[in-house]
Amino acid sequence: MKSWNGLKRWGGWLAAAITAVGLGLPPASALASGGVAPPKQDWTFSGVFGRFDEASLKRGAQVAVEVCMSCHSIKYIKFDHLRSFGFSEAEVKAMAESQGKTKKDKMISGMDPQAAKDSFGTIPPDLSLMTKARKGYEDYTYGILTGYLNDKEKEMVEKIFADGNVLDPEIKEAAEALHLGHDLEKAKKSLERIHRGDNFNKYFPGNFLAMPQPISAGQVTFADGKESSLEQMAKDVTSFLAWAAEPTAMERKSAGVKVIAYLVLLTIMLYAVKRRVWSRIPH
Ligand code: HEC
Repeated sequence: MKSWNGLKRWGGWLAAAITAVGLGLPPASALASGGVAPPKQDWTFSGVFGRFDEASLKRGAQVAVEVCMSCHSIKYIKFDHLRSFGFSEAEVKAMAESQGKTKKDKMISGMDPQAAKDSFGTIPPDLSLMTKARKGYEDYTYGILTGYLNDKEKEMVEKIFADGNVLDPEIKEAAEALHLGHDLEKAKKSLERIHRGDNFNKYFPGNFLAMPQPISAGQVTFADGKESSLEQMAKDVTSFLAWAAEPTAMERKSAGVKVIAYLVLLTIMLYAVKRRVWSRIPH
């Protein structure tokens, strides 16, 4: 009896402790201090009936090859693969050659991993599966590309430090604008790092990353004449990376739709047969 009561008491304590820990801990997203959830974007390819926009994929591949591949590999894709959304053999060959490769080669960056480590302190991650590997998926990749400080925000930070007298209201205002949280001491530290020139990104967990802003407006000249704004390039290269993460996504989706349509039809036909068969039996 005694031991049963003891067990009950310990059980109660244990339950209380677990509840307290559960309630007391902030959610995981808040633990990685800094970095807010990236806003949701409209992607043509999401949903069961979603489709990749081939023009966007072509522009995105151009950005990936001309910009991202100077640091990142996309190792699960071969240049030849890019023909599946409309590039000609000659175009694919030219793209491969611009990277010192042939069209049969994988999209491996020319940057030596050790050299990357020496200059960035880390090896740029392979981008093949990036849109599937992070919370937020495509929205995260797009968020990273568009989440650096714009000119106005940079100006705001510089103004805070210009007179050598950093005031609380200024920190508060900047903290709000850049989603730095409510802890003013922490926000101040982040602002100092930005001031020192560290790469700040609104959507990177922890806010500071080794990648300097990789794209800027007008950086590439799109073959189809589309204006290369920062957002356009970010959108196109993210779509391309979503394709790279699952090149057969469209086949998978249309197979799924066909299977469902078949099952619906089969159900209707079986129901008709059932009614017919049972109609002869009095009930
Ligand atoms: C100058 C070299 C360089 C270029 C160019 C570059 N990156 Fe990066 N990138 C890096 C490095 C270094 C990291 C690792 C950052 C870190 O972990 O702190 C990185 C990280 C990333 C991340 C991952 C963030 C994470 O959650 O781990 C994404 C996404 C990314 N880059 C996308 C791109 C895209 C898309 C392009 C082309 C538009 C590009 N990068 C161009 C160097 C580069």
